[in-house]
Amino acid sequence: MYIDIELLKQFEKGLDPEHPENSLIPASVLGYGEISTIFEIESESTCGLACKRLPIFRTGDEAARYEQLYNAYNHTLEKAIGISVPSYGFTSFKTDEGRIIAFDIQEKLPANSIGNRVIHALNTENIRALFLLILSELSKIWEFNRLNPDRALGIDGQISNWSIVNLYSLGANITPDTRLVYFDTSTPLMKRGGVEQLDPELFLRSAPSFLVWIIRWLFLKDVMTRYYDARLVTIDLIANFYKEQKPEIVPLLVEAANEFYSRDDILLAIKPITEKEVRSYYKEDALIWTLFLAFRRIDRWLHKYILHRPYIYILPGNIKR
Ligand SMILES: Nc1ncnc2c1ncn2[C@@H]1O[C@H](COP(=O)(O)OP(=O)(O)OP(=O)(O)O)[C@@H](O)[C@H]1O
Ligand SMILES: [Mg+2]
Repeated sequence: MYIDIELLKQFEKGLDPEHPENSLIPASVLGYGEISTIFEIESESTCGLACKRLPIFRTGDEAARYEQLYNAYNHTLEKAIGISVPSYGFTSFKTDEGRIIAFDIQEKLPANSIGNRVIHALNTENIRALFLLILSELSKIWEFNRLNPDRALGIDGQISNWSIVNLYSLGANITPDTRLVYFDTSTPLMKRGGVEQLDPELFLRSAPSFLVWIIRWLFLKDVMTRYYDARLVTIDLIANFYKEQKPEIVPLLVEAANEFYSRDDILLAIKPITEKEVRSYYKEDALIWTLFLAFRRIDRWLHKYILHRPYIYILPGNIKR
């Protein structure tokens, strides 16, 4: 993939992280991640691309190591596991201030094809079919991990991480032939010989410094391991429907998941999931992320008014949960 690194450098130079909409090179925000912000930058060489800005690396070596993992993760998903990913690339550079900025670059997928948008345009039957299709895609990972425990992959199966190919040309019906693309590859969780390859400290870089110790102590191990666990990934996926304001569909999805995992061809022993469990998981998860964002805003305030240091992360506005 061709990447116009000079343009990205100019973009970064003219970017105001607190007001990304006022960037010197105009760009629209396609989405916010915990560690990345996803832009479409308005220029000839970047139009049609999703540029995921990662301001988390401290050294060139760290970025190079991440690049290797990012490429291996995308490659393994696509070639060894059979989950489609958008075409991708990566670049990093040093700014004039000596900071390292990296970008994952992906082909931009149509906004109305992304799972969390799609579910608002589908009827119940089609949502159920989409959900089962995602469980089938995820099963490819669990099967791969079972057969290759020494090079297992983690995955974040959330509804907002999948794009549905050509949905509207099919009359908005999900069929067994509907194809999905998984695009949230910016957190390339991979194990080699049972050891996580992605440095967990990278997740902490955007966290307020006054919280790093508590996150490291309370959450980090959980966050890093839950993406390898079919049951937890499924609960997380179902819980998304609360966040997406579709609580009424949760019982049906719980039932569909339990039915799916009891199928003979799914070689996973998963304890049945209950609705209560999904609800309490969601409550806890929503509380954690709401608090986390609030503390990041405090950290931004401290940087601006007390420490007088630049705050390089971009924070989302209020998120409806
Ligand atoms: N290639 C793409 N094309 C179109 N939209 C995209 C693309 N990649 C991301 N987005 C939009 O941005 C949102 C967040 O992106 P993504 O899922 O990659 O990161 P994340 O899970 O939020 O963050 P992170 O992994 O960095 O913590 C997506 O839900 C989607 O709406
Ligand atoms: Mg995502």
